[in-house]
Amino acid sequence: MSTVMNELHQDHQNIREILRLLSRELDEVSDASGGDFELMRDIMVYMTRYPDHTHHPKEDLMFKRMRERGIAPETEATIAKLLREHAALAEKGSIFRDMLIGVVDGALVERDTLVATGRDYTEFLGYHARLEDETVFLVAQKLLDDADWTVVRQAFEAQVDPIFGPAVDHEFENLYDHIRDSSS
Ligand SMILES: [Fe+2]
Ligand SMILES: [Fe+2]
Repeated sequence: MSTVMNELHQDHQNIREILRLLSRELDEVSDASGGDFELMRDIMVYMTRYPDHTHHPKEDLMFKRMRERGIAPETEATIAKLLREHAALAEKGSIFRDMLIGVVDGALVERDTLVATGRDYTEFLGYHARLEDETVFLVAQKLLDDADWTVVRQAFEAQVDPIFGPAVDHEFENLYDHIRDSSS
């Protein structure tokens, strides 16, 4: 498997782990037993920083190379849908992130609104990653060659994951500790 495809798969695993953590926090907010809003804010700052700025654009470039190689109509339809979803995810993610930044800063947000916004985001992203795993990722592995993968890899070489990359960004140390504790 190409390095890029390995990275995309690994990103999906990391995203699923973070979404599990977020879901647990949403459960606690929902049943009024707790909920760590700073942690949830950090999660959404991360989601709008790395997946929205590196993971999805990397996929977009991969889709472009796939289109250039020639793809079946059903794959084209799936790619068009995934591209729309990337835009929708970025929008939903930034709305939820801003809501959490507000809550941490003392803004009043209805519990039900926050939980519904969070659940909508986690379910949408979970479904989106699954759809990619089961459709376009399989096609890309068969269709693209080393030259394609090199183009995609080089375009994103400088962008590192601030949590799962070579070093944990200071801003995400608390979130990293929670991820490590929840997976051990
Ligand atoms: Fe995606
Ligand atoms: Fe993805």
